[in-house]
Amino acid sequence: MIRKARIEDVKIIHRLLIHQEEHDGLVLPRSYSQLYSHLRDFYVTTDENDNVTGCCALNIIWENLAEIRSLVVLPEHRGKGLGRKLVDACLSEAVTLGIFKVYTLTVQTEFFAHLGFVNEEMNALNQKVFADCLNCPRFPDLCNEVAMVMAL
Ligand SMILES: CC(C)(COP(=O)(O)OP(=O)(O)OC[C@H]1O[C@@H](n2cnc3c(N)ncnc32)[C@H](O)[C@@H]1OP(=O)(O)O)[C@@H](O)C(=O)NCCC(=O)NCCS
Repeated sequence: MIRKARIEDVKIIHRLLIHQEEHDGLVLPRSYSQLYSHLRDFYVTTDENDNVTGCCALNIIWENLAEIRSLVVLPEHRGKGLGRKLVDACLSEAVTLGIFKVYTLTVQTEFFAHLGFVNEEMNALNQKVFADCLNCPRFPDLCNEVAMVMAL
């Protein structure tokens, strides 16, 4: 199932993001402070015992722009449609909020293209999208992420 994240999910979300960074370097880890502040951005998928199996966040950037970020599904739960469900939940929330453009910064271009996202020039997005980049050790020369957008 999929639901909004709750306070007791923060530690597992933190581990999910750190673990990904250590193994694949595909998602930015987040501090506990960031996770508590942005908890309301997060959705989680859970198994039958309410154990978290994946997470994803919708971060509002500006008047008509939100970011999909921190998307991770536990390796043993991949390929079952959970990643799509998490992204769809964020897209639905964006529409509910009246935000009709979302983007993501990703190396998983084929996954997001499969979901209907298209490539976009970073510079075509609001300057605020660089906020996280500035504190990232891979910025700018080692960054291999691509900006992808979806109009809703
Ligand atoms: C990317 C990730 C979230 C996908 O999660 P998932 O639960 O395995 O994806 P789903 O099962 O929901 O797949 C949805 C669709 O995308 C397709 N898909 C999944 N991974 C794909 C990939 N890497 N490339 C292309 N298509 C992919 C699936 O075949 C499925 O297609 P269908 O609905 O037409 O059958 C997961 O692999 C992951 O956590 N990876 C590591 C972290 C990461 O890279 N996060 C993204 C950073 S922005």
